[in-house]
Amino acid sequence: MASSAGQLLLMSVAILGSAGCFASDTITPNSAVSGSRTVVSTGGNFELGFFRPAGDSNTASSSDGSNHYYVGIWYKKAVSPCTPVRVANRAAPVSDPASSQLAVAADGNLVLTNEVGELVWSSNVVISSSSSNGTVALLLDSGNLVLRRDDGEVLWQSAEHPTDTWLPGVRLGMNKITGHVQALTCWRSSSDPAPGVYSLGIDPNGTSQFFTYWNTTVSFWSSGEWNGNIFAGVPEMTSHYFYNFEFVSNANASYFDYSLQDPTVISRFVLDVSGQVRQLIWVPSADEWMIIWAEPHQLCDVYAVCGAFGVCDEKRLGARRSLTAAAETIPCSVTVARTVTPSCWCQDDEAHRPTMEQVVQALEGVVAVNVPPIPTSLQAFAD
Ligand SMILES: *[C@@H]1O[C@H](CO)[C@@H](O)[C@H](O)[C@H]1NC(C)=O
Ligand SMILES: *[C@@H]1O[C@H](CO)[C@@H](O)[C@H](O)[C@H]1NC(C)=O
Ligand SMILES: *[C@@H]1O[C@H](CO)[C@@H](O)[C@H](O)[C@H]1NC(C)=O
Ligand SMILES: *[C@@H]1O[C@H](CO)[C@@H](O)[C@H](O)[C@H]1NC(C)=O
Repeated sequence: MASSAGQLLLMSVAILGSAGCFASDTITPNSAVSGSRTVVSTGGNFELGFFRPAGDSNTASSSDGSNHYYVGIWYKKAVSPCTPVRVANRAAPVSDPASSQLAVAADGNLVLTNEVGELVWSSNVVISSSSSNGTVALLLDSGNLVLRRDDGEVLWQSAEHPTDTWLPGVRLGMNKITGHVQALTCWRSSSDPAPGVYSLGIDPNGTSQFFTYWNTTVSFWSSGEWNGNIFAGVPEMTSHYFYNFEFVSNANASYFDYSLQDPTVISRFVLDVSGQVRQLIWVPSADEWMIIWAEPHQLCDVYAVCGAFGVCDEKRLGARRSLTAAAETIPCSVTVARTVTPSCWCQDDEAHRPTMEQVVQALEGVVAVNVPPIPTSLQAFAD
């Protein structure tokens, strides 16, 4: 009696011990990701779980008093500031990770439910009922999250749905059968992973060029065509001895991908919130990301980088072009569009005229201006 109880105790210690020592790389129908539970890829390169964007911790909570948590994949090994490379629920944050969960649902899909059990994100693939049993999601050391059947067939993978980051091995391009363009879309801000206004993707018209777009329509940078070795508009590619680049175009797809010659080097491409495409390398000795390439070269060449009424000051930018990923402030100033606005206030009704201080603040963009109707005497200038 006593010995069997002892055996039982030993067994449960062994089970608990193994759970504590080996973080799982798999999400199964019986093991959801929730609260602080994460999954870690086999070699420890990447981790998946709930996170809060770095920029969000300053503003501890949003205006409605709730916190914003996302399910993402970030670097686990070496890289110290949390650097998410993929976000599932980009525009649909949850407020309580402990009662939200990422799980394999009965139909075999990977689903994220929030604190009240509502579905906020799904891998959304059609899975026949015969193969939905035994579906698991596996986080690979490449950062790819793969949903697959027990016989190994891949049903869905995160590498085919990138957010703002282009990791080695990921194919950025177009499916020629469906016409689907796999593009990068920047974060709205450093604290908000919702899709921003800039995107990067291959020419939907079928050439080998990549374009950056503002609002999906206005293109403001092009890679030029692939000449077999490099993109015509990116002569620096030849000096990038860290990488192997590949452009593939066949009957089904055209895409571009890259790999690292030294697999111990940690590198990524990202479409920054500023609209710049950046190639970064992790420098362990400096403990930071270093930008080794960026296009457009000058932030000021990003379309609408200063918003509707701003102009970007190239001279102020040129003096301190930074090679590190440290936050760069874009040198924006106010355009004529804004100077016209306060002048419109000089109307008949004196009681509503702004003080000189208010005018200066409006010109500097410190206060927002409600545009009153333009007086008839000034209409000629406003057109
Ligand atoms: C799923 O698999 C389990 C274990 O293999 C089995 O007990 C269960 O009946 C299966 N369910 C369906 C719907 O096939
Ligand atoms: C694609 O082709 C159409 C029609 O020729 C043209 O209007 C459009 O600008 C092209 N788009 C790009 C991104 O080159
Ligand atoms: C972006 O494009 C859409 C539709 O083409 C338009 O309705 C929207 O106003 C544009 N956004 C901006 C910021 O101009
Ligand atoms: C294109 O897709 C078809 C159908 O899936 C496949 O048989 C063929 O091998 C593919 N061709 C290439 C070049 O990948």
